[in-house]
Amino acid sequence: MNPAKVRKTYLQFFKQEDHAIIPSAPLVPENDPTTLFTGSGMQPLVPYLLGAKHPLGTKLVNSQKCFRAEDIEEVGDNRHTTFFEMLGNWSLGEYFKEDQLSWVFLLLVDELGLDPRRLYVTVFSGDEKTGIAKDKDSIAIWKKLFLEKGIRAGDVDMQTEERAAELGMGEARIFAFGAKKNWWSRSGVPENMPPGEPGGPDSEIFYEFDMVEHNSVFGKHCHPNCDCGRFMEIGNSVFMEYKKTEDGGFKKLSQQNVDFGGGLERIAAAVANNPDVFCTPLLSGIVEKIERLSGKKYKSKDTVSFRIIADHIRGVMFMIADGVLPSNTERGYFARRLIRRSVRHADILGIKQGKLANLVFPLVQEYGEVYPEVAETKEKIMREIRDEEEKFRVTLKNGLEEFKRVALGKMISGKQAFDLYQSYGMPLDITLELAQERGMAVDQEEFKKLFNEHRNLSRTASSGMFKGGLADHSEETTKLHTVHHLLLATLQQVLGKDVRQRGSNITSERLRMDFSFDRKLTQEELVCVENLVNEKIVQELEVVHKEMPKEKAEQMGAEMEFGAKYGSVVSVYIVQDKHGEVFSKEFCGGPHVASTKGMGIFKIIKEEAVSAGVRRIRGKLT
Ligand code: ALA
Repeated sequence: MNPAKVRKTYLQFFKQEDHAIIPSAPLVPENDPTTLFTGSGMQPLVPYLLGAKHPLGTKLVNSQKCFRAEDIEEVGDNRHTTFFEMLGNWSLGEYFKEDQLSWVFLLLVDELGLDPRRLYVTVFSGDEKTGIAKDKDSIAIWKKLFLEKGIRAGDVDMQTEERAAELGMGEARIFAFGAKKNWWSRSGVPENMPPGEPGGPDSEIFYEFDMVEHNSVFGKHCHPNCDCGRFMEIGNSVFMEYKKTEDGGFKKLSQQNVDFGGGLERIAAAVANNPDVFCTPLLSGIVEKIERLSGKKYKSKDTVSFRIIADHIRGVMFMIADGVLPSNTERGYFARRLIRRSVRHADILGIKQGKLANLVFPLVQEYGEVYPEVAETKEKIMREIRDEEEKFRVTLKNGLEEFKRVALGKMISGKQAFDLYQSYGMPLDITLELAQERGMAVDQEEFKKLFNEHRNLSRTASSGMFKGGLADHSEETTKLHTVHHLLLATLQQVLGKDVRQRGSNITSERLRMDFSFDRKLTQEELVCVENLVNEKIVQELEVVHKEMPKEKAEQMGAEMEFGAKYGSVVSVYIVQDKHGEVFSKEFCGGPHVASTKGMGIFKIIKEEAVSAGVRRIRGKLT
């Protein structure tokens, strides 16, 4: 049974149980400013889970396009992808645990043909902090369901993964874990949920690939939540009946909901009894095309590059089809990152320049019927991939050439890595990745030593120079002054033009900026901010100082701090590239560096609230 058939079987099964089939929402959430991408099937349905009436009734089913940016780094193994399709069904205050667990079990076993002896489940073990009890109902339901298939399913209370790895599975088939594993909400565990957010205990289903041997690197004994790859989660039934309250507690929602989600890729892998989702027809077409373009085999030392390219091109295809174009901000930043990372791996495989865009063909063939938007925008998708590849090649060329020139033996010395960093803007992690691809090591100890020596040296030099001065004009502080300007301009790009600076404080160790914004930044936004600042640093922007009448500075739209007083002639710092394209302009007394070249890597240490409508970011250079 191929994935297209799995998708259809799932939808039909629930349709027969009186569910309305709803279309997939776009990857770009509508009316939901809290997240950049649709990352689960329930996201577009939150108002209905909270009690609003859905026009199509109380039982819904669909296959939803999802993108999880937080999984970018995970891609490369047999089961993680950034884009995936989530098969989902919902009860909006209608059926609950009994129907839900019976239906998924019968669907998997009777309709999709999975061997029930290969299925293992987890349930919620209860949580002292929230006072929400162990899910004994689900345990009883699972026992009954397995027994109907002639399987005696024992249960065991594991609580944590650590304990599970210590104890081993024994004969059990039903495992209870705490909130870290068996509680679901958009923000994860109960403590992380904001007031008003719905969530609840869940029950996950795992498929056992018995050809995968447990690897003790992941723990002494294997268990369903072990990461060795023997068990793969193929579905999750969330019993969404709670809501976080203002005082940090929980109360029951007005209705008991079910939110089920199962990754189509993973269910298809289980149906094929092959643990590699890249071998399902959803991705095997693009994998084969990569083989043809590169002349290399998927099953080789290059498997990881194949997977990264296949995943990233598929992800960016769906993004562009939903209107996201590569850029430096927000969603566009992720589109850019997916393409650029694919280019690096296409180079590793020896795919000719400009050919990456052709990988869209097999994907359109696989998805064009179910998601007509990808077929309709095929030309645009290919053009965007080609253009972005071209742009990236220019940036990468210099750094990579130098890397190849120095990467000769088995080791990149700390000095070489430091020079790459200092003079070519290559962050240590890219050097590490490049080295790893070539089976080389990097002397990180020496790198760090040089890095610190350099920092101490410049501190000594500057403290000597500014001896007696009142302000701290050390080189570190000066760099952070410039980063401060980059950060403000970045926040305005990522969060919106209305963001204003509300205060600042800089030491040689870190910067602190207060700014107007009315909610916590999401993880994606923080990553986006960090990366955009770093991208600007690497672009070696120049910092130009001008004195001008206050009116003129205001006219040119230079940023000034709210409530600060300025004289009639003001000092303005402009950060721009070599073509004069301005990234930031601010009223400021300085001092600043002349160029962002070699300033280091910016890291956000913390983001928190200061008062209503004002947030604070602490950051540093490493
Ligand atoms: N919303 C649930 C999940 O994403 C089903 O796992």
